[in-house]
Amino acid sequence: MDTQVGIVGAGPAGLLLGHLLARAGIDAVVLEARSRDYVEQRVRAGVLEQGTVDVLTETGVGERLHREGMVHHGLELRFGGVGHRIALSELADGRAITVYGQQEVVKDLIAARLDAGLPIVFESEATTVDVERGVIRFGDDELRCEVIAGCDGFHGVSRAAVPEDALDVYEREYPFAWLGILARAAPSSEELIYTHHDRGFALHSMRSPEITRLYLQVPPDERIEAWPDERIWEELQTRMATADGGFALNEGEIFEKGITPMRSFVAEPMRHGRLFLAGDAAHIVPATGAKGLNLAVADVRVLARGLRDLFERGDEARLDAYSERCLRRVWRVQHFSWWMTQMLHRMTGDPFEAKLQRSQLEYVVRSEAAAKTLAENYVGLELEDV
Ligand code: FAD
Ligand code: PHB
Repeated sequence: MDTQVGIVGAGPAGLLLGHLLARAGIDAVVLEARSRDYVEQRVRAGVLEQGTVDVLTETGVGERLHREGMVHHGLELRFGGVGHRIALSELADGRAITVYGQQEVVKDLIAARLDAGLPIVFESEATTVDVERGVIRFGDDELRCEVIAGCDGFHGVSRAAVPEDALDVYEREYPFAWLGILARAAPSSEELIYTHHDRGFALHSMRSPEITRLYLQVPPDERIEAWPDERIWEELQTRMATADGGFALNEGEIFEKGITPMRSFVAEPMRHGRLFLAGDAAHIVPATGAKGLNLAVADVRVLARGLRDLFERGDEARLDAYSERCLRRVWRVQHFSWWMTQMLHRMTGDPFEAKLQRSQLEYVVRSEAAAKTLAENYVGLELEDV
């Protein structure tokens, strides 16, 4: 098999890249280790920035997103048992976020690609990426490509194909993880609620008018068996309760449970010869800023433009600037995600740190300047502004 761009991984990064390239008439093959069913059912992120919604809409894959996605103009920060609304759209020039599950984006992109008769090779794990020769091996086959896009997530093979001395790695692990659930229960509020509590962080999100998504901060090495449903509800009720007793958290059947580690990670540069890393293959952010998926989308928008210049005009200037261009946004988002994480979680238990944290939360909800900083980062900076 031969192609112009070999894309490793059919997550949001690989699928959107394939879609943008198809629109530009560039030939690509997407290789995916898992089955179609598996990637379509994998529950992950749920918040789309305005820029992410815009690119999906403009390229013809936003129809169901606009029908089923929920547009949010604000969010709540809750601490000391009191909620404070951050008016995202008022503070960020009318921009908003849309709540729509990552696996729904993945389904829409897969359907668009297969409907157009373009290839996604499922259940085909890339075993090696040969950057020098432009060859991706999978099973007994190989794919020869002019350019390789490593979109295979944090545990993929692409990043490992870069010699160690050609990559700088920056990393931070947090002393906690998130336990996430999906429950058949109507959301208990119209907006997301980020809750800081002495017992740890809790988050109320949603997927539809009938389905609530909830998260709890738990120890990093926590086992899911330690959390029977009753314990999850009890802990959520305790952390999310308001001092006036006015908040009622709706409960329902829990039909999905998982534990996600919290990590910050960046590998620089995001290019090695003809290999370009995008999305989680190059960087990970803790989920508190809701940025992982959006950052993957931002990377491939930059990459697709560069590849268009290369294949249409032989112009490599944008590709040469790819890594630097993406890393400016990556580090802005790294800072924002780290900032939200350390502001909202139970950190070390050190009382001095707890006092600082509380002061910071109070400042964010009282100062318009501070709230605006949160809002413009949360809804997402324009590609051009980073
Ligand atoms: P991925 O979605 O990881 O896609 C990579 C794809 O490559 C996968 O389909 C994988 O099967 C495939 N692959 C891997 N290796 C190979 C190989 N060798 N050959 C072929 N294919 C391969 N973000 C949030 O904002 N909120 C959340 O709640 C949230 N929860 C998360 C939960 C988990 C368990 C994880 C791992 C991430 C979560 N994220 C969350 C982050 C967000 O989902 C990611 O940032 C996003 O999926 C990045 O997209 P991607 O396409 O770069 O990578
Ligand atoms: C989600 O709905 O899954 C979600 C929302 C906000 C976050 C992370 C995850 O910060």
